[in-house]
Amino acid sequence: MGASTTSEGKRNPGNRRLAAVQEMAGFQRILFEVEREFIRTATTLIYRVGDVELKYLLCQHVWESAGHARFLRERGREMSGFGKGDAVRDSFRGIFEEAILGEDPLDSLSCFYRVLKPAILLAYRQYLELTHHLADWPSRRLVEEFILDEERHAAEIEPYLGDREVSSLEVRIEAALAALGGWLGKDEIAALPDGFEWNHHTEKFQPPTICNRGDFPICSSVFSHDPEETPIVRQWLEDPETDARVIRLMVYVWLMMELDAVDYLPTVFYDTPDAPFDLHFDLARHLWDESRHSAFGFRQLPKLGVDLTTLEHSLDLYNILVQMTPPERYAMMTMEFEANSFPVKALVMDRVRELNDFEADTLLAFDRNDEQNHVRYGHQWLPEIMKLFGEERPVEEFVEATKKRFEELAEEFGGRVPHSLPAETRLTGKKILEIAGVA
Ligand SMILES: [Fe+2]
Ligand SMILES: [Fe+2]
Repeated sequence: MGASTTSEGKRNPGNRRLAAVQEMAGFQRILFEVEREFIRTATTLIYRVGDVELKYLLCQHVWESAGHARFLRERGREMSGFGKGDAVRDSFRGIFEEAILGEDPLDSLSCFYRVLKPAILLAYRQYLELTHHLADWPSRRLVEEFILDEERHAAEIEPYLGDREVSSLEVRIEAALAALGGWLGKDEIAALPDGFEWNHHTEKFQPPTICNRGDFPICSSVFSHDPEETPIVRQWLEDPETDARVIRLMVYVWLMMELDAVDYLPTVFYDTPDAPFDLHFDLARHLWDESRHSAFGFRQLPKLGVDLTTLEHSLDLYNILVQMTPPERYAMMTMEFEANSFPVKALVMDRVRELNDFEADTLLAFDRNDEQNHVRYGHQWLPEIMKLFGEERPVEEFVEATKKRFEELAEEFGGRVPHSLPAETRLTGKKILEIAGVA
């Protein structure tokens, strides 16, 4: 309990009396910072990995880590010495910045899951050993839960890393962490090897201009007015003559392609290092919601007879939005795409109800509820993100200008991804009629 023996402690006996609490609060502060920096940087993996299930899993882990950070901060603030503000110390930030610079995103993934997160798990276990189980029971309860989460995260990621060889990046990240003595500084400290160079000092991370969809066929958009072009035929969604089974298939394609948001929303975390944690917390929830919405389609379409290898993934939204600033991306998402999706989705829900498909009704109801929250997040956080980027226009004016800019950028960066598959083999509106049995 270092504080009790310092001259500061002698000068100020109040500090000395709470030294035991302050030491544990300091560890909670460390864990809060590590979890929040994990969220900001691990999100850069999502658009770089091609496996859809891995994208979903990362969104889930990011959300659960946001929960850890939030509870740590809540508990930490009850204790003397947690400190004010949400800022992350540079020594931690540097390690995460370095870890994301893997040329192969799986190298970065292995840094996170074979080095940085196991060290978080170890730090939680160390916390339990270091604290008093009765005096600090409120923290203990939380930490015991986080340990279970971390153990599950390790098991859940295992199929994606398997026996992948240790990369040179992983070795470097391990060394960088050892130089701190682990997250809590309780392990043996090993000096950085001679000649160790921090690549992030000279190399700035940039999201790729195109997102990774692995082996899936790709296209510009899944929406059009042509049944021989795309799976979603806009006018069919609102036409009372369209068979409800066709509407259901089209809305599942729509939901699955919320994968667009799963790829472009994560770009906002990394670009806002000084955001209040509450902003990142809500973004993490938003992101996980979108991954669940996408999974609704991903899981249901095959049950209804759709071969997912014939469904082209749309890349336009990511490709265009990544050209914009973070406040512009977030404004388009919440104030345009989400805010304007309700009327058509309401029509679609009414039509799907004709089918007495309880599961479809449930999925659509939760989607609608989540989307209402997302628009609320938009109203709360867009002004904050604008502030972080020195944007001083009134919100409405900014949103209007952003919509215009999106249209201009769409001319330049949209509609450029040709169909991977010929019309005969890809899923189109016409094929959907056949699959629904109404052709
Ligand atoms: Fe959604
Ligand atoms: Fe949404």
